[in-house]
Amino acid sequence: MPRKLAAGNWKMNGGSAELSEIAALALAHPAPGCDVLICPPATLISRMAEAARGSAIAVGGQDCHGAVSGAHTGDVSAPMLLDAGASHVILGHSERRQDHGETDATVRIKTTTAVTEGLIAVVCIGETLGEREAGQTLDVIGTQMDGSLPDSTTAATIVVAYEPVWAIGTGLTPTLDQIAEVHDFMRARLAARFGADMADGIRLLYGGSVKPSNAAEIFAVPNVDGALVGGASLKADDFGQIIAALD
Ligand code: G3H
Repeated sequence: MPRKLAAGNWKMNGGSAELSEIAALALAHPAPGCDVLICPPATLISRMAEAARGSAIAVGGQDCHGAVSGAHTGDVSAPMLLDAGASHVILGHSERRQDHGETDATVRIKTTTAVTEGLIAVVCIGETLGEREAGQTLDVIGTQMDGSLPDSTTAATIVVAYEPVWAIGTGLTPTLDQIAEVHDFMRARLAARFGADMADGIRLLYGGSVKPSNAAEIFAVPNVDGALVGGASLKADDFGQIIAALD
């Protein structure tokens, strides 16, 4: 059973005020019973890493390029994230897939580069509402997993986050049975490709409108090893309660 992970994705939000709040969170949870990861915008990674130094909080980026350097104006590379103090990177978030046309193949290249350079990749997958209503959820999840995860996937280097697109930032969540169905499917899919022992060690996060009021019941679902939290991770009190629900 892997150690649980509470991951916060600030997306394109957050500044110095949130940074100070989260520094306070680190002091309030000096030794949480789960791993804690904060992924602020790229502009704050280095300061966040400094604020979290010596605490149990890890820091991550929200994306990186598939190349390690080069003429890619505006992009950030995996070595740059490491240099800024990050240990993780979120890849393939549905907002990147939608806004930047990222495909499974793109995500796989980025994941391979990130892991090769020494980052832990949090690879996101999830169906749209239309796909769920059409009964395609498991097909979509299976295809995204097959395409986005490299053959070199290990439990130490990859975390998989299931984020139904329709649950992100909407206040809607799947039923606990629906979450269980997808997470069971994901574990089985990983086992078929990477072997049962490796699959058992890969952390499977749920993401999409996780908040203090629903965190405990979601974390009690089998094969849910933590959460990727958006909006609620920007408020230290809310994120602290979600961490406490995993403790
Ligand atoms: O990466 C985080 C997810 O997109 C969830 O966002 O908690 O605001 O729904 P949310």
